[in-house]
Amino acid sequence: MPSPTEEVQRGLQDVVALESHLCFIDGKEGRLIYEGYDIRDLAAHSSFEETAYLLWYGRLPTSDQLAALRHRLTELRTLPDAMVARLDAMPSTAAPIDVLRTAVSELSLFEPDESRPGASSIGGAQRLTAALPSILGQFHRRRAGLPPLESRPALSHAAYLLYALLNREPTELESRAMDVALILHADHELNASTFAARVTASTLSDLYSAVTSAVGTLKGPLHGGANERVMELLDEIGAPDRAEEVVKAKLARHERIMGFGHRVYKVEDPRATILREWSRRIGEAKGDLHYYELLRVVERVVHQEKGLYPNVDLYSGSVYSLMGIPHDLFTPVFAASRVAGWTAHVLEEYQDLRLIRPTAKYIGPVDLPYVPIASRV
Ligand code: SDX
Repeated sequence: MPSPTEEVQRGLQDVVALESHLCFIDGKEGRLIYEGYDIRDLAAHSSFEETAYLLWYGRLPTSDQLAALRHRLTELRTLPDAMVARLDAMPSTAAPIDVLRTAVSELSLFEPDESRPGASSIGGAQRLTAALPSILGQFHRRRAGLPPLESRPALSHAAYLLYALLNREPTELESRAMDVALILHADHELNASTFAARVTASTLSDLYSAVTSAVGTLKGPLHGGANERVMELLDEIGAPDRAEEVVKAKLARHERIMGFGHRVYKVEDPRATILREWSRRIGEAKGDLHYYELLRVVERVVHQEKGLYPNVDLYSGSVYSLMGIPHDLFTPVFAASRVAGWTAHVLEEYQDLRLIRPTAKYIGPVDLPYVPIASRV
């Protein structure tokens, strides 16, 4: 038995579980780096496709390499007919994040080669990354009575995701806003869903199983599900002059305000800084700053009352909502980006495999005598 003095690190807080070259978070300075590149540079100059390439290959692509990846992802947008039929048979009232979790798992039944345990490759990573927008678009279009999805090879990954969900081609500004959001959400070191993917991969299970684990983990409101709940809070508040009263009442009841706080960042999440600006830009372009102005007030109140800073989930929903994406698709959009990071971490785990298996400090009884059922009261 472990010695009683061993310190338990609940939630594995501050436990260094492994070495990785994929992502570095400086929680004190509020910096986020993918494979050496600062997220602010990537958000300003890169694309989701280029960022995914960086995570999968460990370096920025040449123009030919990027063109080849873009072409490959457009080819992989198409789902097997049997998968489309399975999506069309899913209850239209199902939560899209649950549909996504189910569909990733089902897709492996139709693509055994890509999902073979251990043999999973960058090809599988590209397949899943290309498929997620199609899975979400196929399901949402059917439940909304929209026309069937086309592969639209001329559209970038971000623009295709918006077309898949909105049934219209996005504006340049919307495409850029979504591309930046996908870059910002692509990876984040050992967050809960990425860790779930690595635990799954560390048993030599396959890529699709690891991503299924990750989607189920991301759904939780303490993790990726927060962006949808931020919008519920904003709709509950209604007008900016009610924000202070509503937020203070929730804090007085020791409720969590979604979109604030972080296990690693002790200052503002650099992704929130960038998404706040996009919330303002898209709001101005649409002539609707309602959510942006509400969020600024909520930010002020939460910081003055609890000293907490916004995280990536605070502003992302306002950007998506202004573009017309339904709120219950916000966490699936987060997954459509994070699948690049999840798959990169799975491949890194395969390359330096170590079964992930911590221990627990046992606090139950020992040496109890077995009592026959007839003698139990
Ligand atoms: C994501 O890990 C990642 O990298 C995740 C992510 C990624 O890219 O993968 O960054 C994405 O998940 C961002 C986080 C989204 N979740 C939310 O916005 C939900 C609200 N936030 C919290 O539940 C919380 O901040 C966590 C879960 C994010 C982090 O919690 P910790 O590190 O376990 O901190 P804690 O729960 O111990 O809280 C410390 C104190 C507590 O106060 P006391 O009880 O000690 O008085 O801060 C308080 C908490 O009550 N607190 C909050 C709060 N977050 C922390 N109080 C009110 N509202 C909040 N949001």
